[in-house]
Amino acid sequence: MINKVMLEVSNVNKKFGGLLALSSVSLSIESGTIAGLIGPNGAGKTTFFNVMTGLYPADTGSFSLAGKSYNPRVVEEVVFSGIARTFQNIRLFKEMTVLENVMVGRHCRTKAGFWGATLRTQKTQLEEKLIFDRSLELLDYVGIVQHASKTSKNLSYGDQRRLEIARAMATDPLVLALDEPAAGMNATEKVELQKLLEKINSDGTTILMIEHDVKLVMGICHSITVLDHGEVIAHGTPDLIRTNPAVIEAYLGPGVA
Ligand SMILES: Nc1ncnc2c1ncn2[C@@H]1O[C@H](COP(=O)(O)OP(=O)(O)O)[C@@H](O)[C@H]1O
Ligand SMILES: [Mg+2]
Repeated sequence: MINKVMLEVSNVNKKFGGLLALSSVSLSIESGTIAGLIGPNGAGKTTFFNVMTGLYPADTGSFSLAGKSYNPRVVEEVVFSGIARTFQNIRLFKEMTVLENVMVGRHCRTKAGFWGATLRTQKTQLEEKLIFDRSLELLDYVGIVQHASKTSKNLSYGDQRRLEIARAMATDPLVLALDEPAAGMNATEKVELQKLLEKINSDGTTILMIEHDVKLVMGICHSITVLDHGEVIAHGTPDLIRTNPAVIEAYLGPGVA
């Protein structure tokens, strides 16, 4: 049975020294939807991702995925409970090939432990073959399989972003969390990205995305949460957010609606 709520985060507080970067932030995302997280620079969006995926400890907060609570500070719980993310500043293994980058993501799903990997048992070899095949499939899925054997740093910026998405998808996530996936992309690349995200979503993955491109966010998201100075100032459908006076004041500016 599908849980109606896929990701539920409640009452997150996070301080950096004297700065309250997140103040009683709660967010709930329905299963099968695309949710947006927007707000001015410094609002706390990336910090929210960092806390939700365990990069930083939260001061308070509870986290649950598909109806099961998880502890973000335990990395395996984050991955195995089903969250994968990309980074605002692309984090690829730049000297590795495109294919290897995806295979690394896939490895966390394998069962062969240390001895299996060391002795290269038949089972391990079979698993490696499956990882290889699945990784190629994912590269094809995001549209960059023709670059599989290239060194990652030689990919165009837009393709590096696609590769990050492929690597994240390699963990078979329930929720794909994207931190500014369209940053640095030109208009054509953004249209392609939108298509890719819609495909990923219609194939069953719930998406949470931080994004500054208002047209993209409004065009793709079912619900949007707005952060300002570490606080949620609005949550709702794109139409409600677009016309919300507090959001216009804090972020959108006049003329967007
Ligand atoms: N590791 C950190 N140490 C200290 N302050 C931080 C750290 N990470 C983020 N901050 C601060 O927290 C606030 C929110 O930052 P961030 O989450 O990156 O905002 P956004 O992603 O919305 O632009 C900013 O004031 C930022 O300077
Ligand atoms: Mg950020």
